[in-house]
Amino acid sequence: MSKKRWRLKPKVKIALILILLINILVLLFIFRRPILYLYQSKKTGYKYDTIELVNEYNIYDKIKKHDYSLNFEKIIDTEYFNSNYVNNYLDIEYRSSDFYFYNINKLLDLGYNSNDINVIYDVLNDEDIDIILNNKHLDDLTNILKLSYFKKGKLNRYISYYQENVLPYVDVVTYVNIGLDNEFYTDVITISKPDDLFVLVNKYRALEKDYVPKDLVSIDKKYNKGTYNQLREVAKKAFESMCEAALKDNIKIYSGSAYRSYSYQASLYNRYVNADGKAKADTYAARAGYSEHQTGLALDIMNAKSEFLTSNDEEYNWLVNNSYKYGFILRYPKDKEKITGYMAEEWHFRYVGNELAKTLYEDNITLDEYAARQ
Ligand code: DAL
Ligand code: ZN
Repeated sequence: MSKKRWRLKPKVKIALILILLINILVLLFIFRRPILYLYQSKKTGYKYDTIELVNEYNIYDKIKKHDYSLNFEKIIDTEYFNSNYVNNYLDIEYRSSDFYFYNINKLLDLGYNSNDINVIYDVLNDEDIDIILNNKHLDDLTNILKLSYFKKGKLNRYISYYQENVLPYVDVVTYVNIGLDNEFYTDVITISKPDDLFVLVNKYRALEKDYVPKDLVSIDKKYNKGTYNQLREVAKKAFESMCEAALKDNIKIYSGSAYRSYSYQASLYNRYVNADGKAKADTYAARAGYSEHQTGLALDIMNAKSEFLTSNDEEYNWLVNNSYKYGFILRYPKDKEKITGYMAEEWHFRYVGNELAKTLYEDNITLDEYAARQ
């Protein structure tokens, strides 16, 4: 007996296939969202739940163009999520810091952009960030934070000085580091390494009363016209080389006053105060302990007529253009009075070594500015 094969009629077959297809379509329709979200999740790297929220906020178009952002993924699921800041959230790095989402919204409200916020969190701690939040937007904040010589502890002072003065941000930080936001002779530091050739002595940095350099030597008589004729050895040698080089250009220079002890500086200063009053004396004479002359690295230079140099002297011109080659700098230049705290002194030169002297000469900055940028 032959086995009867069970066969469907072609029409039935087609009908069944159609039913199957319809079922598939219906299923696809019912599950269209989960399928789409799975696809979107796979494509972007975000969790399925995140993608659900993304679609609720209707912002898939924004996020799909951007690399995966952990910060975005974290914040979208919180009460802090603000759909106006989606692009920012995507660009801001995630940090597990206290009040982070609250703070980044606040910073965005203040007008900081994503890059600013990343820099703010790279450099500052939560306490410092509170200071930023309690101030108005600062245009140069990011630039200030990126300076190698930005000092965290001075943040409040930079902000005040920035707000009170119209100055390039580099100067704001430099001047605050010098101490210029405080009156001269306030917050004075006692210099801990007075023998350093780069030692900075100014109206915020004093030498100890009993500091005397150990290697003071007298300047050769040929190049001296003063009673106070000693310099530290390295400065003395450099000064004499400079005098010799000047002579070759027919320029004659002499020391008029070099190393001065604390007590001599005190008597000198008092004499000036008696003659001119304290305020005036402070513009041209250092108080005892605050004079570079006590380092044995500074001297006042005279011409052949035993006059301290002025800007009209050819000797001064020669020194301005050449002294750096011998390690000396004009310490109190014109136009830098507010920084140094002294009126221009065309006669006062300071030894700092060839390398630093060249840098200061080329950058046209004072020793105070240089030190404030270290
Ligand atoms: N005249 C300079 C500032 C001094 O007295 O050291
Ligand atoms: Zn001097």
